[in-house]
Amino acid sequence: MIKDKVFKAVIPAAGLGTRFLPVTKASPKEMLPLVDKPLIQYVVEEAVASGIKEVIIVTGRGKRAIEDHFDISFELEENLRENGKKSILKEIRKISMLADFCYVRQSKAKGLGHAILTAKNLVGDEPFAVLLGDDIVDAEVPALRQMIRIYEKYHAPVLAIARVKKDEVKNYGIIKGEKINSRLFSVEDLVEKPDPDDAPSDLAVIGRYILVPEVFGMLEMVKPGKNGEIQLTDGLRILAKRGPIYGYLVEGKRYDAGDKLGFLKATVEFALKNPDLGREFRSYLGSLVL
Ligand code: G1P
Repeated sequence: MIKDKVFKAVIPAAGLGTRFLPVTKASPKEMLPLVDKPLIQYVVEEAVASGIKEVIIVTGRGKRAIEDHFDISFELEENLRENGKKSILKEIRKISMLADFCYVRQSKAKGLGHAILTAKNLVGDEPFAVLLGDDIVDAEVPALRQMIRIYEKYHAPVLAIARVKKDEVKNYGIIKGEKINSRLFSVEDLVEKPDPDDAPSDLAVIGRYILVPEVFGMLEMVKPGKNGEIQLTDGLRILAKRGPIYGYLVEGKRYDAGDKLGFLKATVEFALKNPDLGREFRSYLGSLVL
């Protein structure tokens, strides 16, 4: 039976962050600050604003800071209370109450598909979302909420997609799809990080997925693919052969915050929008001779 509601989200956070070295040598890339919040908090907030109740984070060695961030911080909270810092205390307390958090460790970085497989028992037999912390989507309606609406209509997996330039297709899973309407595509096939000349389209999968538990069986079947890793894309290929999958061009602005330049762009734009910093930061940027 197809279940209707998506309550669980998996956030893979065991990656080594090699695109961001050296800062990620001993610090999780998910904890890099976008203005004043770590990247992973934006992603969790998007999930929660989309109706997610349980957040499953796939971690690994060196990622303890993530668990601490979403836990209560007793000494800090006591200190803020004693010093009458009410508003920041409220903000800090809110973080640990965002959702029910659970953690599972991926002992070896064997790829995105393998990371998701690690969450199999925690997900159980229900549809679930996957959010990748590298992709930050600034949208009026949260990106995942937009996708859940599609899932609730079609009862089939939904992948967030975006158009990318030809020389960028090598960084993404690329879909071969048939257009249903201006934002929706039916996915016939996918290929992980193709050469630009072999890419079936310019429609790249960005880091948001609504998946069904059948995908775990597919991931158990796939052999190591691109870069010797168990690729989620390869599991989805099998799924696409067996039933419908949809690609949805999400509304909003997407940043690849796992890349140094993308992260800088996101930092500047989020800082400009920040109610406390925006005005002064804008005038500072204006004063730079570029
Ligand atoms: C992963 C997926 C890829 C997807 C991308 C989105 O790649 O394997 O299919 O397009 O995320 O960000 P990664 O960026 O982890 O190399």
